Amino acid sequence: MEKGRASMDVSELMDVNERVAVIIGSTRPSRICPGIAQWFQDVAQEHSPLRYELVDLAEVNLPFLDEPLMAALGQYEHEHTRAWSRMVSSYGGFVFVFPQYNWGYPAPLKNALDFLYAEWSGKPASYVTYGTRGGNRGARQIREVLAGLDMRELDDHLEVVIRLDDVDEDWQLKDLGSTLRPYVEQARTIDVQMVDALKRAP
Ligand SMILES: Cc1cc2nc3c(=O)[nH]c(=O)nc-3n(C[C@H](O)[C@H](O)[C@H](O)COP(=O)(O)O)c2cc1C
Repeated sequence: MEKGRASMDVSELMDVNERVAVIIGSTRPSRICPGIAQWFQDVAQEHSPLRYELVDLAEVNLPFLDEPLMAALGQYEHEHTRAWSRMVSSYGGFVFVFPQYNWGYPAPLKNALDFLYAEWSGKPASYVTYGTRGGNRGARQIREVLAGLDMRELDDHLEVVIRLDDVDEDWQLKDLGSTLRPYVEQARTIDVQMVDALKRAP
């Protein structure tokens, strides 16, 4: 057993929601986000008692926020909001995977966050950003928003550097495994932190 994992008996998690959503935060048709999210799911899942599941915002397909009342009031008019609420409520923790766009993070992700409030609140969260410098400016922005939603940010997150050498002429990753290999241990650490955070569920 790996160091630090001895305390992670599945039975200790029986009373907590052990499902973790890995949210695919880019919705572009030519996006590289699903591959990176799938990589994170695979690596985090490998030694974990948790269940990591992909949630694709392109499939969730929310409109721009169209609820008359703010989400914190929890009174939803539209079925798409109620469906999103049920989905988010069904998860105990979240890992947001997204690129940096113009020093920020993708608008569809902000929109998806803004649709709900209590469903996020108090839950542990981390994120995987990527960009030519690792997406650190997008990371900086989302952490403010996660705090605004009263989420419990884990100690670690990933900032994946995508070099020009890593992508082909269509900006697709040539070898996803080798680009992401330097981040494997950190991804496993995020899983360990997620387990601990879920055991300390408020
Ligand atoms: C609207 C837009 C803005 C971007 N801004 C940045 C940026 O600020 N920093 C960066 O490193 N890359 C930036 N890029 C390049 C993205 O990192 C790259 O296109 C990446 O593949 C986007 O992720 P996706 O394919 O999953 O959507 C930008 C791309 C787009 C489409």
